[in-house]
Formats: sequence, structure tokens, C-alpha cells
Amino acid sequence: MFFETKDLTRAALNDLGLSFNPFKAIVAPRPIGWITTQNAKGVVNLAPYSFFNAVSSDPPIVFYGANGTHDADGGEKDSLRNVRETGEFVCNLVTWELRSQMNDTATSAPNEIDEMQAVGIASLPSRLVKPPRVAASPAHLECKLHQLVELPPDPATGQRNVMVLGLVVGIHIDDNFVVGGRFDTTRAQPLARLGYHDYAVVTEAFEMKRPSWPLKKG
Ligand SMILES: Cc1cc2nc3c(=O)[nH]c(=O)nc-3n(C[C@H](O)[C@H](O)[C@H](O)COP(=O)(O)O)c2cc1C
Repeated sequence: MFFETKDLTRAALNDLGLSFNPFKAIVAPRPIGWITTQNAKGVVNLAPYSFFNAVSSDPPIVFYGANGTHDADGGEKDSLRNVRETGEFVCNLVTWELRSQMNDTATSAPNEIDEMQAVGIASLPSRLVKPPRVAASPAHLECKLHQLVELPPDPATGQRNVMVLGLVVGIHIDDNFVVGGRFDTTRAQPLARLGYHDYAVVTEAFEMKRPSWPLKKG
């Protein structure tokens, strides 16, 4: 099948034999940035964002994409509003062990509610930024806002899509996850988002080194 994304109405999806837009199932697995922010009054927010990734390593820069509005008040999602107000965030690594706590933080609690406290997630202070860290995450990236990029809005609803780019200024790693001088991803077992309500977990890795030119055949 082939379809132009601008033509993807509900009827067009059904004609193609699809129940949902498959875009997010194709761009998968996506890492999950479990983002802590604070508003100007210091109220803490924690929420998962799977439009999340690193875009450069030197300097280390990550982004998360805030789509649509806050369910409770129709304004900006808290993770966008807070970073705009205070310019700082922390990305906490979501692991298999933390999957259900992560999911609980995807609800739209009002901005004045401390979402870590409400969900019962223990925190640790950060070093270089104010938002706290999820104590049980094996790794955290402390970030300062680099830029907010306003993307084209949802053509159907007009709702905003905003890309939040952050410079990683500090990295915490739980030493139990460092094996042979490397961060052991299979020990951490990070969760990744697929399409629909599906997830994946990293439990295996393999190594493949880049070849040099000219390629050796056979
Ligand atoms: C695994 C997962 C990934 C999500 N990824 C995103 C995302 O990339 N962008 C987004 O706007 N919402 C995403 N959501 C929904 C937000 O987490 C949800 O709207 C949340 O209420 C936003 O919280 P906030 O207002 O506290 O920032 C995701 C939800 C889950 C469970």
C-alpha cells in the first residue's frame, strides 16, 4: 500500500485496511524520555515523552516533542509550560521495573499538583538544575533548555507541536549499571515505545563494528 499523509482520514485508513495511523508503529522502537520539570513556583512534574531522542553527542543535545494540549485545562502540557517558565529539565531512564510508574505519570494532573509525590515516586536532588531525578532510574540527564521549536500544528485540530531541545549539562549513572567500563544497557533494560499501546524492552544486544573502505567481500 501507499498513501499520502495529507489524505489520511479515518475513511481512508479503513479503505487501506488499517485501524489506526501506522506512523508511530513504523518509527519504532522509540526511547522514552521520562521528563521532570518544575514550574516557576517549584511544583514538580513528571511525564513520559516518546518523541524523544538524542540529536548530537558533542555537545550532548536531546529533545522531546510536546503534542496537543493538557487534558485538564486545554493549555500547554506541563512539561512544555514548565520548561518555558524555568528553562530546565531532567530525562530519567525508564526501565522494565519502572513501567507501571511511568504509565501512571502519563495522566494529566493539574499543573499545581506535584506529580512525583502524587504517584508515589521517590526523588533525588539534581546537581546543576532544579527539577529532581527519579531515584530508581539507573541514569539521568540534567538538561538546560537550548531552544523551543514551533512545528506545524495538527492540520485537523490546529493543536500545537513543539520541539524542546536541551543541552545535557550533567549525567548521573548508578554504578551498578557500569560493567567493564561501559553503561550496561541490557542490565538496565530500558523500555521503548512502539505503535498503539505496545512497548518493547531491551534485554539483548549484539556488536557490529563499522567497516573501513574499501569493503572486503565474502
Ligand atoms: C509512553 C508514553 C509516551 C508518550 N509520549 C508523548 C510524546 O512524545 N509527546 C506528547 O505530547 N505526549 C506524549 N505522551 C502523553 C503524555 O505523557 C501525556 O499527555 C501527559 O499527560 C503529559 O503530561 P504533562 O502535561 O505533565 O507534561 C506519552 C505517553 C506515554 C504513556
